Amino acid sequence: MTRKAILRLGTVKNVASFKEHLHSLGLTIPCDHELVKGLVSPLRQPIVSGDIKIGNRIVVHPMEGWDGSPDGNPSENTIRRWRRFGHSGAKLIWGGEAVAVSHEGRANPNQLVVAAHTQEGLSRLRATLIEEHRLTTGTDDGLLIGLQLTDSGRYSRPNAHGRPEPRILYHHPFLDRRLGLPADFPVLTDVEVEAIIESFHRAALMAWKLGFDFVDIKHCHGYLGHEFLSGHTRPGRYGGSFENRTRFLREVVQGIRSIAPGLKIAVRLSAIDSVPFRPDPTKSSKGKPGEGIPEPYENEIPYRWGFGVNPFEPAESDLNEPVRFLALLEQLGIRLVNITAGSPYYNPHLQRPALYPPSDGYLPPEDPLVSVARQMEVTQRLKQQFPNLIFVGTGYSYLQDFLPHVAQAALREGWVDLVGLGRMVLTYPELLWDASEGLAIERKRICRTLSDCTTAPRKGLPSGCYPLDSFYKDSELMTQLTIAKKH
Ligand SMILES: Cc1cc2nc3c(=O)[nH]c(=O)nc-3n(C[C@H](O)[C@H](O)[C@H](O)COP(=O)(O)O)c2cc1C
Ligand code: SF4
Repeated sequence: MTRKAILRLGTVKNVASFKEHLHSLGLTIPCDHELVKGLVSPLRQPIVSGDIKIGNRIVVHPMEGWDGSPDGNPSENTIRRWRRFGHSGAKLIWGGEAVAVSHEGRANPNQLVVAAHTQEGLSRLRATLIEEHRLTTGTDDGLLIGLQLTDSGRYSRPNAHGRPEPRILYHHPFLDRRLGLPADFPVLTDVEVEAIIESFHRAALMAWKLGFDFVDIKHCHGYLGHEFLSGHTRPGRYGGSFENRTRFLREVVQGIRSIAPGLKIAVRLSAIDSVPFRPDPTKSSKGKPGEGIPEPYENEIPYRWGFGVNPFEPAESDLNEPVRFLALLEQLGIRLVNITAGSPYYNPHLQRPALYPPSDGYLPPEDPLVSVARQMEVTQRLKQQFPNLIFVGTGYSYLQDFLPHVAQAALREGWVDLVGLGRMVLTYPELLWDASEGLAIERKRICRTLSDCTTAPRKGLPSGCYPLDSFYKDSELMTQLTIAKKH
């Protein structure tokens, strides 16, 4: 597919034309013609299930800003972002952002850390969010706020932007090469893994004491929790069999339950994945990546380095093990699940459908609507198999002007329990709240998937919506990003 063939959704005039476009692509994405207003809106229905009460169906996905202080405390930028999370009107705040359980596990030197010296800062983020949420919705009743706990594993970069300090669980035929890791690069030992598990326990206890309602034990996007699930080639207690690859999760959960019994536990999961993608070298030139193509995997079959990947055709997904994983969550009494896909590092089109690639990406190998439909369809299938789990769906920002129509229809038709927003929250946090209030949608604030919020951190700058949020657009940061993009 050439880039020209992708229709820009900003040019599509109305819902009928959007639906025609979906039809022309052969996609089944539910989409309502009319938005329902007020308390009867599907977006405004509460969920009450056991001890879980969520006041509406709008979710803010976790999103880091690369803007904490070197010691892992929030900055004024971070506080502003959490204020905007509150302003969204969402009653489920899924983690706010990935917060590292130790300094070594930070994905960047400005990532937040859960530690004794950051408790006050984290508490302030929560309080700011609640205060702003009350202003938007009138009450904090039914508001559920979690903290996403992470160790960045292979993507750890705790001390300097340009200095990866990977903590790997096994050697990967493609990802090791990308990080320039020699064959004898040490993998984390089981004893080191046990210490990381203890850090998760400590962090969860702190989150509970600070008043967070739940913690997300992050299992997505190529970070440590996710890497455990694909550790087929790892020897010892944490690799090989499904039981061993999920031991990390079970031990984290067991410890949290014993020290923070009132704290809810949730999991964000990359339920599907693929072999890493790269720009097609035959179509790339300096500064202009070609379309994404899978790494040549012919010599790596059966493929033993993925989770939710077909081992015999690893450019394709396979839900067998993700289904087992969700059954395990159910057994462990974990009911809040956020379904995402792949990784921003090696197959961003799966994870975050976009028209424009970030600086380290590639042109979309498929219409981004196909990528949106894939995440939605996988979530729908999993929801059908696990009706008692509460599912949050991902990948909706690319839908742009039609996001509210699709979100409403997906909820109404039971494809998903809650709709999560990522990038859209950076530009227009209250989009779904406005839509369900019957307010006019401000088109100029809609995320157009320009990817600067990813390119900026890749260049060592804080993340944010540089093109559309005046806080970044009119600042010195914008000048720095423009210069950085030229190099
Ligand atoms: C700037 C930025 C930061 C992100 N940080 C996180 C994170 O900390 N944790 C996480 O699970 N996902 C993170 N994501 C992924 C989003 O939560 C979300 O899955 C993704 O953007 C797709 O949703 P969307 O289409 O609504 O943007 C991040 C995405 C962006 C753009
Ligand atoms: S920079 Fe702004 S418009 Fe671009 S993807 Fe991020 S949020 Fe959307």
